[in-house]
Amino acid sequence: MTEPAEQHGKPFLCAVVCAAGVAADVSKLITAAQERNWEVGVIATPVALNGFFDTAAVEAQTGRPIRSAWRTPGEPRPFPAPDAVVVAPATFNTLNKWAAGIADTLALATLCETAGLGVPIAVLPCVADALAAHPAYRESLRRLRGMGVRFGDPYTGETEPGGARPEFGWERALDLVRPG
Ligand SMILES: Cc1cc2nc3c(=O)[nH]c(=O)nc-3n(C[C@H](O)[C@H](O)[C@H](O)COP(=O)(O)O)c2cc1C
Repeated sequence: MTEPAEQHGKPFLCAVVCAAGVAADVSKLITAAQERNWEVGVIATPVALNGFFDTAAVEAQTGRPIRSAWRTPGEPRPFPAPDAVVVAPATFNTLNKWAAGIADTLALATLCETAGLGVPIAVLPCVADALAAHPAYRESLRRLRGMGVRFGDPYTGETEPGGARPEFGWERALDLVRPG
Protein backbone atom coordinates (compact mmCIF):
# COMPACT_ATOMS: atom_id res chain seq x y z
CA MET A 1 0.00 0.00 0.00
CA THR A 2 1.42 3.41 -0.94
CA GLU A 3 1.47 5.83 1.97
CA PRO A 4 1.86 9.63 1.93
CA ALA A 5 5.42 10.66 1.11
CA GLU A 6 7.47 12.18 3.91
CA GLN A 7 9.02 15.43 2.73
CA HIS A 8 9.48 18.01 5.47
CA GLY A 9 8.27 15.81 8.31
CA LYS A 10 5.00 13.97 7.98
CA PRO A 11 2.32 15.13 5.52
CA PHE A 12 -0.51 17.00 7.19
CA LEU A 13 -4.10 15.79 7.07
CA CYS A 14 -6.86 18.18 8.07
CA ALA A 15 -9.93 16.32 9.36
CA VAL A 16 -13.12 18.40 9.23
CA VAL A 17 -15.70 17.05 11.67
CA CYS A 18 -19.38 18.02 11.38
CA ALA A 19 -22.24 17.64 13.86
CA ALA A 20 -23.52 14.13 13.12
CA GLY A 21 -23.97 11.45 15.77
CA VAL A 22 -21.26 9.23 14.29
CA ALA A 23 -18.67 11.95 15.06
CA ALA A 24 -18.48 10.34 18.52
CA ASP A 25 -16.17 7.75 16.93
CA VAL A 26 -13.84 10.19 15.16
CA SER A 27 -10.88 8.84 17.15
CA LYS A 28 -11.03 5.83 14.78
CA LEU A 29 -10.26 8.11 11.85
CA ILE A 30 -7.37 9.75 13.67
CA THR A 31 -5.86 6.42 14.71
CA ALA A 32 -6.11 5.03 11.18
CA ALA A 33 -4.60 8.20 9.69
CA GLN A 34 -1.70 8.20 12.12
CA GLU A 35 -1.05 4.54 11.31
CA ARG A 36 -0.78 5.63 7.67
CA ASN A 37 1.88 8.21 8.55
CA TRP A 38 -0.33 11.32 8.50
CA GLU A 39 0.08 14.14 10.98
CA VAL A 40 -3.52 15.03 11.87
CA GLY A 41 -5.26 18.24 12.93
CA VAL A 42 -9.01 18.59 13.49
CA ILE A 43 -11.30 21.44 12.48
CA ALA A 44 -14.78 21.02 13.95
CA THR A 45 -17.90 22.94 13.05
CA PRO A 46 -19.15 25.02 16.01
CA VAL A 47 -22.10 22.66 16.47
CA ALA A 48 -19.88 19.57 16.37
CA LEU A 49 -17.67 21.09 19.04
CA ASN A 50 -20.67 21.33 21.32
CA GLY A 51 -20.93 17.76 22.59
CA PHE A 52 -20.71 15.58 19.47
CA PHE A 53 -17.31 14.07 20.34
CA ASP A 54 -14.74 13.96 23.10
CA THR A 55 -12.69 17.08 22.35
CA ALA A 56 -10.13 16.51 25.10
CA ALA A 57 -9.45 12.98 23.84
CA VAL A 58 -9.03 14.22 20.27
CA GLU A 59 -6.66 16.97 21.34
CA ALA A 60 -4.61 14.45 23.28
CA GLN A 61 -4.60 12.08 20.34
CA THR A 62 -3.53 14.67 17.74
CA GLY A 63 -1.32 16.74 20.04
CA ARG A 64 -2.97 19.88 18.65
CA PRO A 65 -5.86 22.10 19.70
CA ILE A 66 -9.09 21.57 17.78
CA ARG A 67 -9.82 24.55 15.60
CA SER A 68 -13.33 25.88 15.12
CA ALA A 69 -13.04 29.66 15.00
CA TRP A 70 -10.83 31.99 13.02
CA ARG A 71 -7.51 33.07 14.45
CA THR A 72 -7.07 36.79 15.09
CA PRO A 73 -5.10 38.63 12.39
CA GLY A 74 -1.97 38.84 14.56
CA GLU A 75 -1.90 35.14 15.46
CA PRO A 76 0.29 32.72 13.49
CA ARG A 77 -1.46 30.01 11.49
CA PRO A 78 -2.00 27.18 14.01
CA PHE A 79 -1.99 24.40 11.38
CA PRO A 80 0.34 23.84 8.44
CA ALA A 81 -1.18 23.98 4.94
CA PRO A 82 -2.90 20.62 4.49
CA ASP A 83 -1.64 17.99 2.07
CA ALA A 84 -5.14 16.51 2.10
CA VAL A 85 -8.50 17.13 3.76
CA VAL A 86 -11.14 14.65 4.85
CA VAL A 87 -14.65 15.67 5.87
CA ALA A 88 -15.96 12.95 8.16
CA PRO A 89 -18.72 12.88 9.05
CA ALA A 90 -20.11 15.42 6.58
CA THR A 91 -23.60 16.76 7.33
CA PHE A 92 -26.43 17.79 5.01
CA ASN A 93 -26.00 21.34 6.26
CA THR A 94 -22.26 21.65 5.66
CA LEU A 95 -22.35 19.93 2.26
CA ASN A 96 -25.10 22.23 0.97
CA LYS A 97 -23.40 25.36 2.30
CA TRP A 98 -20.01 24.35 0.92
CA ALA A 99 -21.49 23.70 -2.53
CA ALA A 100 -23.18 27.09 -2.40
CA GLY A 101 -19.89 28.83 -1.55
CA ILE A 102 -20.92 29.85 1.96
CA ALA A 103 -17.94 30.31 4.28
CA ASP A 104 -19.45 31.32 7.62
CA THR A 105 -17.61 28.74 9.73
CA LEU A 106 -13.88 28.02 9.72
CA ALA A 107 -14.68 24.51 8.51
CA LEU A 108 -16.61 25.83 5.50
CA ALA A 109 -14.07 28.53 4.69
CA THR A 110 -11.31 25.93 4.80
CA LEU A 111 -13.24 23.63 2.48
CA CYS A 112 -14.08 26.39 0.00
CA GLU A 113 -10.48 27.54 -0.11
CA THR A 114 -8.83 24.12 -0.15
CA ALA A 115 -10.92 22.97 -3.08
CA GLY A 116 -9.72 26.02 -5.00
CA LEU A 117 -6.11 25.17 -4.23
CA GLY A 118 -6.45 21.71 -5.75
CA VAL A 119 -5.68 19.90 -2.48
CA PRO A 120 -7.30 16.40 -2.44
CA ILE A 121 -10.51 16.32 -0.43
CA ALA A 122 -12.46 13.22 0.59
CA VAL A 123 -15.97 13.33 2.02
CA LEU A 124 -17.87 10.73 4.02
CA PRO A 125 -21.46 11.98 4.12
CA CYS A 126 -23.69 11.01 7.02
CA VAL A 127 -27.12 12.06 5.82
CA ALA A 128 -30.51 10.41 6.40
CA ASP A 129 -32.36 9.23 3.31
CA ALA A 130 -35.17 11.74 3.83
CA LEU A 131 -32.69 14.63 3.71
CA ALA A 132 -30.67 13.08 0.90
CA ALA A 133 -33.83 13.10 -1.23
CA HIS A 134 -33.90 16.90 -1.18
CA PRO A 135 -33.12 18.24 -4.67
CA ALA A 136 -30.72 20.84 -3.27
CA TYR A 137 -28.63 18.06 -1.75
CA ARG A 138 -28.43 16.11 -4.98
CA GLU A 139 -27.39 19.29 -6.76
CA SER A 140 -24.76 19.99 -4.07
CA LEU A 141 -23.19 16.56 -4.55
CA ARG A 142 -23.14 17.04 -8.29
CA ARG A 143 -21.49 20.41 -7.90
CA LEU A 144 -18.87 19.21 -5.41
CA ARG A 145 -18.03 16.18 -7.57
CA GLY A 146 -17.55 18.59 -10.46
CA MET A 147 -14.99 20.44 -8.30
CA GLY A 148 -13.01 17.20 -7.94
CA VAL A 149 -14.20 16.33 -4.42
CA ARG A 150 -14.07 12.56 -3.78
CA PHE A 151 -16.99 10.84 -2.04
CA GLY A 152 -17.33 7.69 0.02
CA ASP A 153 -20.53 5.66 -0.04
CA PRO A 154 -23.75 7.18 1.30
CA TYR A 155 -24.33 6.50 5.00
CA THR A 156 -27.62 7.31 6.69
CA GLY A 157 -26.60 7.08 10.34
CA GLU A 158 -29.80 5.13 11.00
CA THR A 159 -29.91 1.94 13.05
CA GLU A 160 -30.60 -1.49 11.58
CA PRO A 161 -33.64 -3.56 12.70
CA GLY A 162 -31.58 -5.16 15.53
CA GLY A 163 -30.68 -1.72 16.87
CA ALA A 164 -27.05 -1.76 15.71
CA ARG A 165 -25.64 0.98 13.53
CA PRO A 166 -23.65 -0.12 10.46
CA GLU A 167 -19.92 0.57 10.64
CA PHE A 168 -18.98 4.02 9.33
CA GLY A 169 -16.23 3.64 6.73
CA TRP A 170 -13.64 5.95 8.30
CA GLU A 171 -10.74 4.28 6.46
CA ARG A 172 -12.43 4.88 3.11
CA ALA A 173 -11.72 8.60 3.50
CA LEU A 174 -8.01 7.82 3.80
CA ASP A 175 -8.12 5.52 0.77
CA LEU A 176 -9.64 8.37 -1.25
CA VAL A 177 -6.77 10.77 -0.51
CA ARG A 178 -3.99 8.20 -0.71
CA PRO A 179 -1.23 9.58 -2.93
CA GLY A 180 -0.16 7.66 -6.05
C1 LIG B 1 -27.82 13.92 18.02
C2 LIG B 1 -27.82 14.55 16.66
C3 LIG B 1 -27.40 13.83 15.58
C4 LIG B 1 -27.38 14.40 14.30
N1 LIG B 1 -26.96 13.64 13.25
C5 LIG B 1 -26.94 14.20 12.00
C6 LIG B 1 -26.49 13.44 10.89
O1 LIG B 1 -26.15 12.25 11.00
N2 LIG B 1 -26.45 14.05 9.69
C7 LIG B 1 -26.81 15.37 9.51
O2 LIG B 1 -26.73 15.86 8.39
N3 LIG B 1 -27.26 16.11 10.56
C8 LIG B 1 -27.31 15.57 11.79
N4 LIG B 1 -27.76 16.32 12.84
C9 LIG B 1 -28.18 17.71 12.61
C10 LIG B 1 -26.98 18.64 12.56
O3 LIG B 1 -26.30 18.60 13.81
C11 LIG B 1 -27.43 20.09 12.28
O4 LIG B 1 -27.97 20.17 10.96
C12 LIG B 1 -26.30 21.06 12.40
O5 LIG B 1 -26.77 22.37 12.11
C13 LIG B 1 -25.16 20.74 11.48
O6 LIG B 1 -24.13 21.68 11.66
P1 LIG B 1 -22.75 21.57 10.90
O7 LIG B 1 -23.03 21.17 9.48
O8 LIG B 1 -22.20 22.97 10.97
O9 LIG B 1 -21.90 20.60 11.61
C14 LIG B 1 -27.80 15.75 14.13
C15 LIG B 1 -28.22 16.48 15.23
C16 LIG B 1 -28.25 15.89 16.47
C17 LIG B 1 -28.73 16.72 17.66
